[in-house]
Amino acid sequence: MALGLGLGMALGIALPLMAAPAWASDDGHSDGGHAEEPHAPTPTGDVFVAGSVCEAHELRALAAEKPSMTIEIPPEFAGQWPSRSACESARLAWDPEAPGPIQPIPFSHKHHAGEFGIDCQYCHSGTDRSPAAGVPSVELCMGCHAQFPASYDEIEGIRILKEHWEERKPIEWIQIHRLPEHVQFRHNRHIQAGVECQTCHGPVEKLDKLYLVPDEHWKYGVPVQKMEMGWCLNCHRDNDNQASIDCTRCHY
Ligand code: HEC
Ligand code: HEC
Ligand code: HEC
Ligand code: HEC
Ligand code: HEC
Repeated sequence: MALGLGLGMALGIALPLMAAPAWASDDGHSDGGHAEEPHAPTPTGDVFVAGSVCEAHELRALAAEKPSMTIEIPPEFAGQWPSRSACESARLAWDPEAPGPIQPIPFSHKHHAGEFGIDCQYCHSGTDRSPAAGVPSVELCMGCHAQFPASYDEIEGIRILKEHWEERKPIEWIQIHRLPEHVQFRHNRHIQAGVECQTCHGPVEKLDKLYLVPDEHWKYGVPVQKMEMGWCLNCHRDNDNQASIDCTRCHY
C-alpha cells in the first residue's frame, strides 16, 4: 500500500490499486495501524501491478526510465485506450493547483481542440451567428463518446458524462468569462470581423484547464484577463478595426 501511495505521489497521480510489495506483507509486521514507515523500496524484487489502463501507461513509462523495475500489466489493462495523454489531461483538468474553477467534468481543451484538432465552432457552434458562444450539449459530447470502448469508463469524467446522458441532465459548466449585466457583447460581430477567439481568450487549445488568461503581450495596455472597458476600447479605437467607441454601442 505505502509503496503504491509513494509512487503515486511521486508521479502526482493516485495509484490506489497498486499491489502491495513482498516486504510489506510477509515480514511479520502485524502490529496493526501504526506500522513503521517503510524505507525506500529496493527496485529489485518489487513488482508493480497496473490496476487500470492509465496506470499501465505510467508504469511502462517509468520502467522505460528504470529498467531494474519489474512491472506487471494484467491483460485487461494492456490496451491502448484511453491514451496516455487522455489520462494525463483528465488529471490536469482537475488539478486544484492550476488556476481556474474545477468544472463538473475534467474536460480538456488541450486534448480535444489541440491534440485532436476539433474545431472551436464544432462545439461552440453559432459563435459567428449569435451574440453568445454557448457550450456544447451532452448529445454533442456523446456523438463521439458513445462510440468509445468501455475501457474509457475508468476516467471518472467519462462516467459522469454518461450519467448525465442517461439521466438526460445538462452539465452545469461554471462560466469563466462574464461581463457585467450593463454591457452588451456580441460574439458574431467579432468573429465576422475576423477577430480570433484566442485574441480574447488566450491559447485555449494549449490548456487542460481553462481560466481567465492574461494577455501575454499586453497589446492594448490592459490585461485581457479582466475584460475591462479600456481593453475593449483600445481595440475598437485601433484604426484597422473600424469599431465604434460610442457609449451606447456597448451600454444599454
Ligand atoms: C469530435 C469527437 C469528440 C467530442 C465531440 C467530444 N470528445 Fe471527449 N474525447 C474525444 C477524444 C478523441 C478523446 C481522447 C481519446 C484518447 O486520447 O484516448 C476524448 C477524451 C475525453 C476525456 C478524457 C480527458 C480529456 O479531456 O482528454 C473526457 C473527460 C472527455 N473527452 C469529455 C468530453 C465532453 C464532456 C465532451 C462534450 C463537451 C466531449 N468530450 C466531446 C473526442 C470527443
Ligand atoms: C469538444 C468540444 C469543445 C471544443 C472543440 C472546444 N471547446 Fe471550448 N468549451 C467546451 C466546454 C465543454 C466548455 C466548458 C468547460 C470549460 O470551461 O472547460 C468550454 C469552454 C470554453 C470557454 C470558457 C467559457 C467561459 O465559461 O467563459 C472558452 C473561452 C472556450 N471554450 C473557447 C474555445 C476555443 C477558442 C476553442 C478552439 C480553440 C474551443 N473552445 C474548442 C467544449 C469545447
Ligand atoms: C473580441 C473578444 C472575443 C472574441 C474574439 C471571442 N470571445 Fe468569447 N467571450 C468574450 C467575452 C467578452 C465573453 C463574456 C461574454 C459575456 O459575459 O456576455 C466571452 C464568453 C465566451 C464564452 C462563455 C459562454 C458565452 O456564450 O458567453 C465562450 C464559450 C466563448 N466566449 C467562446 C469563444 C469562441 C469559441 C470564440 C471564437 C470562435 C470566441 N469566444 C471569440 C470575448 C471574445
Ligand atoms: C481585439 C479587438 C477587439 C476587442 C478586444 C473587442 N472588440 Fe468589439 N469589435 C471589434 C471589431 C473589429 C468589431 C466589428 C466592427 C464591425 O462590425 O465592423 C467590434 C464590434 C463590436 C460591437 C458591435 C458594434 C456595433 O457597431 O454594433 C460591440 C457591441 C462590441 N464590439 C463590444 C465589445 C466589448 C464589450 C468588448 C470588450 C469586452 C469588445 N468589443 C472587445 C474588435 C474588438
Ligand atoms: C467597446 C465597448 C464599450 C464602450 C464603447 C464603452 N464601454 Fe463602458 N464598459 C465596457 C465594459 C466591458 C465594462 C465592464 C468592465 C469594466 O468595468 O471595466 C464597462 C463599464 C463601464 C462603467 C462601469 C465602471 C465600473 O467601475 O463599474 C461605466 C460607468 C461605463 N462603462 C461608462 C461608459 C461610457 C460613459 C462610455 C462612453 C464614453 C462607455 N462606457 C463606452 C465596455 C464599453
